[in-house]
Amino acid sequence: MDEPKVTGTKPKMSSTRMILLILAFLSTLAVIALIAVAVTQNQPLPENIKYGIVLDAGSSHTNLYVYEWPAEKENDTGVVKQVEVCKVEGPGISGYSHAPEKAGPSLEQCLQQAKEVIPSAQHKETPVYLGATAGMRLLRLQNESAADKVLSSVGNTLRSAPFNFQGARIITGQEEGAYGWITINYLLGNFKQSGWKKLLHSLKSLSETSGALDLGGASTQITFVSKELTSESPENQLYFRLYGKDYQVYTHSFLCYGKDQALQQKLARDLQTVENSLLPDPCFHKGYERTINISDFFKNPCTSEKKMAMSSLKTTGK
Ligand SMILES: *[C@@H]1O[C@H](CO)[C@@H](O)[C@H](O)[C@H]1NC(C)=O
Ligand SMILES: *[C@@H]1O[C@H](CO)[C@@H](O)[C@H](O)[C@H]1NC(C)=O
Ligand SMILES: *[C@@H]1O[C@H](CO)[C@@H](O)[C@H](O)[C@H]1NC(C)=O
Repeated sequence: MDEPKVTGTKPKMSSTRMILLILAFLSTLAVIALIAVAVTQNQPLPENIKYGIVLDAGSSHTNLYVYEWPAEKENDTGVVKQVEVCKVEGPGISGYSHAPEKAGPSLEQCLQQAKEVIPSAQHKETPVYLGATAGMRLLRLQNESAADKVLSSVGNTLRSAPFNFQGARIITGQEEGAYGWITINYLLGNFKQSGWKKLLHSLKSLSETSGALDLGGASTQITFVSKELTSESPENQLYFRLYGKDYQVYTHSFLCYGKDQALQQKLARDLQTVENSLLPDPCFHKGYERTINISDFFKNPCTSEKKMAMSSLKTTGK
């Protein structure tokens, strides 16, 4: 009569062992799978990288930048690295004023490049911004509806890319000055000063930060730390708190004083005294000629004050 008891416990023991064996086998499989994933991805598992895309739409051309940074901020500060730069073919977006619908598609090729650099699983969460500068500020002064159409074309293209669209707009001259100043001082390491360097600076009464002069195509910015509490206009005064320190910064953006627009202004002034419709230009190679449509030339807000009655003009090298 004892026999059924014995045979009854035996299968119970072996089924527990079986479950343990199966569990051990499954967890071994799981470890192998994890290692395989880690090896094929060729990177340690906990690494978590974020990406961001910025399009810098200048007056003469547009650049697309891809940045990456670790998701876990190190000591409360994200260390950002530029991993890709793509120069958009053709003119700056303000150059599409006569065909605004073509401004957006001109960005496609660089967006494609960004898609290849950023892992596709992260496309949806990757923010993309476009900031336009003085070329678009001038177009807005000259023809606001054309500027709106260019921005909406660019916005449509960015919105239809697989990224997280954050906006496409014309930034102010103050923002442009501020970003330039922060960038150069970040790159020079001026925000994170060691105790000794800080002491040396205070003894020599040296400035801890550098001023920034940014010569663009259509505007130029000057930005520096100012001790004076008043400036000609409150919008030229900026306040930042960076790495726990306060900065009071003066900034001004001079529209029409970028390299290209300064030359246009000089040409407009030379035209006031031109004898016939031929103007020698000392910057041209000998024999080189260029024909300018005067009515188009004086539509530019940087030259329109110096308008004059001529229909076209040739500029030549001597
Ligand atoms: C973060 O802080 C730790 C300890 O203070 C330091 O060893 C490390 O270098 C810091 N990392 C960075 C990126 O500054
Ligand atoms: C302004 O731009 C729009 C769109 O490109 C164009 O249709 C219109 O003729 C322009 N106006 C002027 C005054 O140039
Ligand atoms: C200059 O451009 C305008 C359009 O902006 C055009 O109507 C005019 O015919 C052009 N003039 C010459 C001489 O090509």
